[in-house]
Amino acid sequence: MNRLPLTIAGTNPIRVIYLMTLFGLVLSGFAQMPIFKRYYIADIPGLGWLAQFYVTHLIHYLAAIIFIGISAYLLVDYLMVRRKQIRLSGSGYLRAGLLAGLLMTGIMLVIRNLNGVILPSGLIIFLDLAHLGLVMVFLFTAVTCLMLKKRWTTTR
Ligand code: HEM
Repeated sequence: MNRLPLTIAGTNPIRVIYLMTLFGLVLSGFAQMPIFKRYYIADIPGLGWLAQFYVTHLIHYLAAIIFIGISAYLLVDYLMVRRKQIRLSGSGYLRAGLLAGLLMTGIMLVIRNLNGVILPSGLIIFLDLAHLGLVMVFLFTAVTCLMLKKRWTTTR
């Protein structure tokens, strides 16, 4: 049975939640670094919260939880149902791999932040740079795929 993706008013809600979560992760992620205060963005009325580390940190964690949930749903849906109809494109595999790397380095950074956990300083620097590096590569890849209209999947 061909199960079409759920759409509401022509829009796939999973896609909308995914894009909103990604936006939340990018915004709150960059707010983990003191750039919004340094470049006066947090001085714009209504944006002061962007300079409050613990507020953006909490938003990053909440968005990460939703992101993990969506990723698990899409992975299971693909492996259990959709794999008969569609397969990941080359750029789909690339983006999935980058997001998996972000998820794994992110989880390690969460573990780093837990009380009583002491990771070697070299590993902490690696995780931070890897997380940030993957963000930049993912954003570049996502924008390039958008411009070149590269889809995540192709039909079998
Ligand atoms: C598309 C997904 C994501 C993006 C774009 C993103 C972006 C970022 C950015 C830009 C930073 C700042 C890096 C720095 O301070 O050098 C950051 C930090 C962090 N991210 Fe993510 N992230 C993503 C996913 C995740 C996920 C899934 C998790 C957890 C499971 C996570 C956990 C963290 C943690 C713990 C930090 C460090 C915060 C701190 O203690 O300074 N991130 N993220």
